[in-house]
Amino acid sequence: MRLLLVHSLLFSFGLAQAAVTAYGPHVQSPFGTTTAASASYTGSASYDRTILQPPPPPSPPPPTQFDVDLQTGDVSGVSIQQQGSFFGFSIEFSVTTQVLGLNSSFLQVPFLNLMANLRQRGGSVRVRVGGNTQETATLVASTPDGAALEKDYAGITNPTATPPLVFTTEIIKMMAEISALTNVYWYMGVPFNDTQHWRLQIAEVGEAMLGNYLIGLQGGNEPDLYSRHGHRPDSYSPQDYKDEFGLLIDAMNADSNIPNKDLLIGPNLAGVWSPTDIWETGFATDFNQNLAALGVERYPTDNCYAQFGIGTPRSGQEMFPTFLTHQAGKTIVAEFPGAPAYAQSVGKPFIMSETNTASCGGFPGLSDSFGAALWGIDYALQLAYSNFSTVLFHVGGQSVYYNPFTPPVRNQSTYQQWTIGPVYYSALVVAEALGSSNIAQVLDLQANDGNDYTPGYAIYENGRPVRVALTNFVSDPSGDSDYTASISIGGTVPAQVQVKYLLAPSVSELYNFTWAGQTFGGPFSSDGRLNGTLDIQTIPCDQTNNVCQVKVPAPGFALVFLTNNALSESDQTSTMTFPTTAYTNLHGGPTITIDPSVLATSNGEKGFANALAGTSKGRQMSNALGFAQALPSLLGVIAGALMIGRLALMR
Ligand SMILES: *[C@@H]1O[C@H](CO)[C@@H](O)[C@H](O)[C@H]1NC(C)=O
Ligand SMILES: *[C@@H]1O[C@H](CO)[C@@H](O)[C@H](O)[C@H]1NC(C)=O
Ligand SMILES: *[C@@H]1O[C@H](CO)[C@@H](O)[C@H](O)[C@H]1NC(C)=O
Ligand SMILES: *[C@@H]1O[C@H](CO)[C@@H](O)[C@H](O)[C@H]1NC(C)=O
Ligand SMILES: *[C@@H]1O[C@H](CO)[C@@H](O)[C@H](O)[C@H]1NC(C)=O
Ligand SMILES: *[C@@H]1O[C@H](CO)[C@@H](O)[C@H](O)[C@H]1NC(C)=O
Repeated sequence: MRLLLVHSLLFSFGLAQAAVTAYGPHVQSPFGTTTAASASYTGSASYDRTILQPPPPPSPPPPTQFDVDLQTGDVSGVSIQQQGSFFGFSIEFSVTTQVLGLNSSFLQVPFLNLMANLRQRGGSVRVRVGGNTQETATLVASTPDGAALEKDYAGITNPTATPPLVFTTEIIKMMAEISALTNVYWYMGVPFNDTQHWRLQIAEVGEAMLGNYLIGLQGGNEPDLYSRHGHRPDSYSPQDYKDEFGLLIDAMNADSNIPNKDLLIGPNLAGVWSPTDIWETGFATDFNQNLAALGVERYPTDNCYAQFGIGTPRSGQEMFPTFLTHQAGKTIVAEFPGAPAYAQSVGKPFIMSETNTASCGGFPGLSDSFGAALWGIDYALQLAYSNFSTVLFHVGGQSVYYNPFTPPVRNQSTYQQWTIGPVYYSALVVAEALGSSNIAQVLDLQANDGNDYTPGYAIYENGRPVRVALTNFVSDPSGDSDYTASISIGGTVPAQVQVKYLLAPSVSELYNFTWAGQTFGGPFSSDGRLNGTLDIQTIPCDQTNNVCQVKVPAPGFALVFLTNNALSESDQTSTMTFPTTAYTNLHGGPTITIDPSVLATSNGEKGFANALAGTSKGRQMSNALGFAQALPSLLGVIAGALMIGRLALMR
């Protein structure tokens, strides 16, 4: 029997907005294939093999030839400048020890690799550690059994059955080490369950240990669901939330162990209140100084009925077509009319701090399909175009279908590797589409006369188009629905362009995805590094007629690099990855093996190469990471990180 202690938010609307994470232990079943509804499947969600029918090609079919005319210069409608770390992750606090590592001396190497892949493409990565479980989290000196994080099942007193978390500074030290190795910037959340007795240790220790790598502290997670969940009285209003946020600011101002008071993020709404309800309280203006960003959380739909028998019944099969269209992302953006512009007017980024295909775990066969990868790309680029500044896709643990990446359950971790889901491919693609310049501006091309099955975006830098992102949502093995985009550029096209494809046989495909010929393979098979030979297509252009013809298969996605620089900005090939895994060959402790030639040319933290410059082969570095003194000193963090295991330098 699966033991699930779930959120019982499920009694009313708001289902679409809240993620659910299962907090109990899980039993993983062996592989099995289910081809219809998943009702009979009893294994862990991440390993479900439900395969949906791809929707038939639309009627009328989208035109299969169309022009993409790219303007240069002062192009109207482009987004604000976006960072290469636009597409990040939200990791439920309660699963950090599954995903990040056990503690600061035991990092999950696949996770490091997954972050390093993104850093290589976008320059840095943003990850939130939080969710519902942030609200009652308490920093303690030690836990009963010595773990860095524990769920206090006996302490479940609240109506949502979320077990309170206790955690030690090891969690934050571990995050600091991940930052030093892979340039991850973190969002965390200040517990908001008790506004009379604030527990600010997460801010104190977070700032001390993470330094500049801490970029935001959420104040309240989905406060518009508080009264519904019994955490606040029924009368709890936007003004009440604003007042409590003010109390938090007062408490932080009074705390000399929190040097930076200006990292807060609100209102983190689930969707019961609108952002305007909050703006009208003066939230963003009165607290402007203390806010690092304005944020919201949103899932397009939910699968709560299938999971828990509550809410509106929905099937993945029936929902599938609603994800395979340009409207999917536009519909979510339309839930926040004027909000990104308002954020700009008060000088703050507007972030989507938790999202994925569907709350309550997603849909089997949909959330884990190639279609979800295409959806994730178009949705994220639509958010970028619409002047959101960040999107964080949620990672919820073993029981959800939508995970970008899933570690094996603990007791199988010595012989199983990780499972990489479709949304992680979306992350790679979007990081490359935006690149590492941090001046990328995104334009929705309304491609193919705005046809919803064939959306396209151009990425601009300094008024010049550098990349084009083209999606084909149609599944059609006949090839009849493949399309060709004829790209022309104000001025003239280059002699050739380079193209990377994201491909799978069908939108319902579960694991056989390739990005530029490379893959993370099937379930349990990845150490977080791409496998296979990199395949970048070179397409000659017709300069006389100013046109480059780029074909996009049905289904598929093409990223067109218009210049060599556009390609190299998105692929800093010298960034390190981590060739061995922590969870295999564990006897005697995990070993991270780092190729020093990779380090020496690392484009990221120069400090890393310097730190190792004088390191002789196999030298063990002592753990110099003292809590107070080490951070934000990068060198100190690195020294700690190297203690992950015996550092072996090899050629
Ligand atoms: C893994 O743990 C689960 C639940 O704790 C247990 O039922 C299962 O037998 C364990 N599997 C192995 C291989 O130890
Ligand atoms: C980290 O976890 C490992 C494995 O459980 C344990 O052996 C080690 O003592 C822990 N280290 C710290 C610093 O807690
Ligand atoms: C908030 O959560 C902490 C940790 O679980 C708990 O000790 C405290 O009693 C809670 N406060 C309120 C007001 O619920
Ligand atoms: C995004 O912001 C820019 C700069 O303010 C603006 O020109 C553009 O119209 C905005 N885009 C959208 C879709 O609102
Ligand atoms: C994987 O997909 C490719 C096309 O993307 C196809 O050629 C290949 O046969 C597929 N392999 C499997 C095992 O399904
Ligand atoms: C990489 O791909 C090759 C060829 O498909 C395969 O034989 C090998 O097992 C894969 N390696 C990993 C680590 O997945």
